Amino acid sequence: MVKEKGCRACHKVNGRGNNIAPDLTYEGDKSAESFDYSRIGGFPSAFAWHQRHFKNPKELVEDSIMPAFPMNSKDIQALSMLVMSWKKTDIPVAYLPGVETGDKPTPEELEQERKMLEGPGAIFVEKQCFVCHSISSMDVISPANIGPDLSNAVADVRSRFGRELEEFLLNPTGTMSVVLEKQIILTREEKLQLVEKLKEAYQKYLEQKEKEDKMD
Ligand code: HEC
Ligand code: HEC
Repeated sequence: MVKEKGCRACHKVNGRGNNIAPDLTYEGDKSAESFDYSRIGGFPSAFAWHQRHFKNPKELVEDSIMPAFPMNSKDIQALSMLVMSWKKTDIPVAYLPGVETGDKPTPEELEQERKMLEGPGAIFVEKQCFVCHSISSMDVISPANIGPDLSNAVADVRSRFGRELEEFLLNPTGTMSVVLEKQIILTREEKLQLVEKLKEAYQKYLEQKEKEDKMD
């Protein structure tokens, strides 16, 4: 239709055409607010404006020299959709060569993870608990700290839930029930192994606390 009706006699589209009328190459980027709706009833939208404008340009822009092309309403709708689709494309950053898109861990973070994997709390890194929990008594530091430090989980679970840690991990509630159902699937043996490790962590926690208290 653009060819047939000779829009380029007045408009430039994609670098081709004339300068009598506004360049339409990026017509679709014009915001809806930039059109004048004072002569249009109904819901003010860019789509409504273009349709009315194509029907009769002079009705909206008095001094317009744009002809009212004889078109049925289907063609008017199609043309309105077409000019609204003429936009600058934002190339997603993932398509640009040489641009790093991943959020890669820093060398420091990698070094810390390597150290934690060699330390006494390695199992909490292997099982991905450290994604949300620090176990500071075993030098396991969580980047996110979404859950509580598990160094004193033995005592904390007892006081918060009135349950033993073993019971809690075998039949978890709250966030941990979702985590252990959907994210980290563990066998009963693995859970018991973690309980043993958390008891060790608690021992270390108590020893470290005692040392600190003496120093005070
Ligand atoms: C004889 C010249 C002429 C021709 C041919 C012409 N136009 Fe226009 N057009 C204009 C002028 C002048 C304006 C600015 C005044 C107005 O808005 O009516 C305009 C405005 C427009 C606008 C609104 C731009 C804006 O954002 O305000 C669109 C969209 C448009 N024309 C599309 C077309 C299409 C599509 C064709 C072909 C079917 C076409 N025109 C043919 C002269 C022309
Ligand atoms: C996606 C984050 C997430 C992961 C991964 C996660 N946890 Fe948790 N965990 C939580 C949150 C949050 C809580 C706090 C309890 C709540 O709000 O339901 C919690 C609570 C706990 C508690 C109770 C601690 C207390 O002091 O009350 C224990 C024990 C526990 N988690 C163990 C683990 C173990 C073991 C792993 C690894 C197998 C693990 N969690 C992995 C988020 C997580």
